[in-house]
Amino acid sequence: MKPLAAEFVTSATAPSHFPPGDLPEIAFAGRSNVGKSSLLNALLGKKNLARVSQTPGRTRLVNFFRVGGGEKKSAVCIFVDLPGYGYAKVSKVAQEQWGPMIEGYLSSRSVLRGVVLLTDVRRGEQEEANLVRWVHARGLGVVAVATKLDKLSRGQRAQGCRDLETFLGVPVIGCSAETGEGMEAVWKAVRDVLSRPRGSSRLTV
Ligand code: GTP
Ligand code: MG
Repeated sequence: MKPLAAEFVTSATAPSHFPPGDLPEIAFAGRSNVGKSSLLNALLGKKNLARVSQTPGRTRLVNFFRVGGGEKKSAVCIFVDLPGYGYAKVSKVAQEQWGPMIEGYLSSRSVLRGVVLLTDVRRGEQEEANLVRWVHARGLGVVAVATKLDKLSRGQRAQGCRDLETFLGVPVIGCSAETGEGMEAVWKAVRDVLSRPRGSSRLTV
């Protein structure tokens, strides 16, 4: 995929530190270590714009990235890399701060159009199903993505995505940040979410 112009804007923990909301935003959410930062990088054709780590809990702040508009070089949207939830090894205090930080962002940001919700294709737990409903109830678009497809054999991939679709109750796009599989489909869904008016109840993939 052709690299896109993109740059880090800022990191924040609270709405008072969020940058001015002058572009439509889409956020990457999901369990710790599921591959949020990796997917964001892969979509933009960058290696390490968002910090990736084998150690869960790498992303600890709400990180904003301005995404350019190709040839014209004008920014078109903001990608927001969120900290992951559900990592037991971070301190209780940190865990208690993360929930409100993520929820604070998702519920207060008026330019937010939707959420790319990542689930490991080999997993999928109640939190993901709850998050789909929570995000949808707020009139935001949901792009449900099954990550790390390369960890399954070819034959298991389609079944893995179907099982996840049944579990989450929404269409699921399978992808791998490692191989680039599924990136076009994720981009298409992201573009749809960014261009739809907030509050429309349509689910997007
Ligand atoms: P936190 O910021 O800690 O919440 O994690 P994250 O969801 O941002 O995950 P990150 O992108 O940092 O990736 C976590 C680990 O998974 C890293 O070791 C990545 O290299 C690996 N990873 C991410 N995507 C893929 C993928 O599609 N395939 C494989 N095999 N590994 C992946
Ligand atoms: Mg991360």
